Amino acid sequence: MCGIVGVLGRHEVAPILVEALKRLEYRGYDSAGIATVQDGVLDRKRAVGKLVNLSDALVHDPLAGKSGIGHTRWATHGGPTVTNAHPHQAGRVAVVHNGIIENYRELRARLDHRTFVTETDTETVAQLCEDYLDQGMTPRDAATETLKHLDGAYALAFLFEGEDDLIVAARKGSPLAIGHGEGEMFVGSDAIALGPMTNLITYLEEGDYAFVTRDGVEIRDAEGRLANRETRTIPAQSTQLDKGGHKHFMAKEIFEQPVVLSDCLGHYATADGVSIPGEVDFAQVDRVSLVACGTAFYAASVAKYWFEQLARLPCDVDIASEFRYREPPVSDKSVALFVSQSGETADTLAALRYVQEKAAKILAVVNVPESSIARESDLILPIQAGVEVGVASTKAFMNQLGVLANLAILAARQRGTIDAAREAELLTALRAMPGLINQALALEDQVVKHTAKLSEAHSVLFLGRGPMFPLAMEGALKLKEISYIHAEGYASGELKHGPIALIDKSVPVIVLAPKDALFDKTVSNMQEVMARDGRVWLVTDADGAAEAGDGTWATLILPKVDPILAPMLYAVPAQLIAYHTALHKGTDVDQPRNLAKSVTVE
Ligand code: F6R
Repeated sequence: MCGIVGVLGRHEVAPILVEALKRLEYRGYDSAGIATVQDGVLDRKRAVGKLVNLSDALVHDPLAGKSGIGHTRWATHGGPTVTNAHPHQAGRVAVVHNGIIENYRELRARLDHRTFVTETDTETVAQLCEDYLDQGMTPRDAATETLKHLDGAYALAFLFEGEDDLIVAARKGSPLAIGHGEGEMFVGSDAIALGPMTNLITYLEEGDYAFVTRDGVEIRDAEGRLANRETRTIPAQSTQLDKGGHKHFMAKEIFEQPVVLSDCLGHYATADGVSIPGEVDFAQVDRVSLVACGTAFYAASVAKYWFEQLARLPCDVDIASEFRYREPPVSDKSVALFVSQSGETADTLAALRYVQEKAAKILAVVNVPESSIARESDLILPIQAGVEVGVASTKAFMNQLGVLANLAILAARQRGTIDAAREAELLTALRAMPGLINQALALEDQVVKHTAKLSEAHSVLFLGRGPMFPLAMEGALKLKEISYIHAEGYASGELKHGPIALIDKSVPVIVLAPKDALFDKTVSNMQEVMARDGRVWLVTDADGAAEAGDGTWATLILPKVDPILAPMLYAVPAQLIAYHTALHKGTDVDQPRNLAKSVTVE
């Protein structure tokens, strides 16, 4: 998703802006640009593609000035061209924007006396503001008046000609952080962008706008009243962006999983079992509704099996973009649970707003406790994964599962559906998980042996049963998003209802199947594939491998694990398969094409 930075500095600002934009690269973008004010004059430089193109342009034609704004754009309205890249300038004002101005057509029509040069919604913000400047308003008033006319979601930063000491920043629906320095001030989409400059951060709240000068910041709420917002010191490790010796952030994040999962489990463990930071009585609840997108949706889908099997609690799981428009009835005895790494996903947030005032309690399983989804929930359940930079989610998925497993065990205890012995067994199995994940990571070399061949495939199927079915879909998502190989995840039993038509020797089938009560049925499905010349890569445990017998193309043997928690362990080979296949294909693993880390538009 787009990234914003702003600097009122003491030194030349262009290199600082580009460095800060580099730290926002992980969010995904397809063009970038900066604007500065030098001797009162506004100037800008923009480039399509990676930031190196902008840096090159700046080498040939530098931008001077100690005040500036910058942006990485992920195209929504209008393709990724230099003209559509931010900052957008209209006369004396330049604007960078994250989000969508929903009434931009209406505003454009109202401003038909002005000349528009881009296809973007954002240009209307700059043109409207310039219109107010033309009417004689000061920059502060013109920006404030502009904000009153914008519908939609935005984080915005305005820079003005003739104003070397002012950035106007605004937040509605997209987060924005103000950074405090010594005689300098900063604006950023997140604290990570500002990490090397300052760790003293004030987050704007919904509807806030701010006048930032080198002396400090004046924040006003949506009604224009002076607002006091807390300034906090962000721990250095939360803004650190380093690959820890790995080739990619994704690899680092895969290998970090034993540690971050351990931290997460520790956060929810007490001597008496599970504890969460707040009150929920699942014994009084008639239903759990889980809502999420993408990988978080697959974590939620695994949790459905856990809530139903362990806590005997009816459970729906929905893709947020479907849920919000389906207008499902919501019981006032239900718990609504929103799962989101970023906590900013537009559809998930909108779905949350739909259940507000309807569900008995709203829970947020998030990685960013300051996020919009967290703020609007009754109870925040942090996943404690640390910053996830790779666009393809790995450690956040693992820790979402960690939190959801704890929650399902708590629900089961409160509802009396598991006895103390089973609870202790599950908690012991969870505690053992980081160690098992380490063992799975040690199998990387065995995974690598087969990924060269896999990278030649045009299509790959993943199969799983029970809680491994959503993991099969997650494995397919991981593979397709970073290697661009078409992949689908199916319930093993569904194979013969259609997808088996695809099977021949060119379509590898990856079967994720611990030896559980249904394993023999999965073996039958594998036989059906192999009988049609299909190549099966079986991921199982030693007992499963023994029962499956010969005939597979590859078999990866994982340690034994309680079958209900198996998706946590089996996620690791699925991630490694995707990662190494993508390496063979030479794709951009950390920033796959067309994808953004946090999807703040519908
Ligand atoms: C895939 C991936 C996405 C996200 C989805 C939801 O690897 O990362 O599918 O899971 O965009 O994002 P969050 O969890 O931030 O709501």
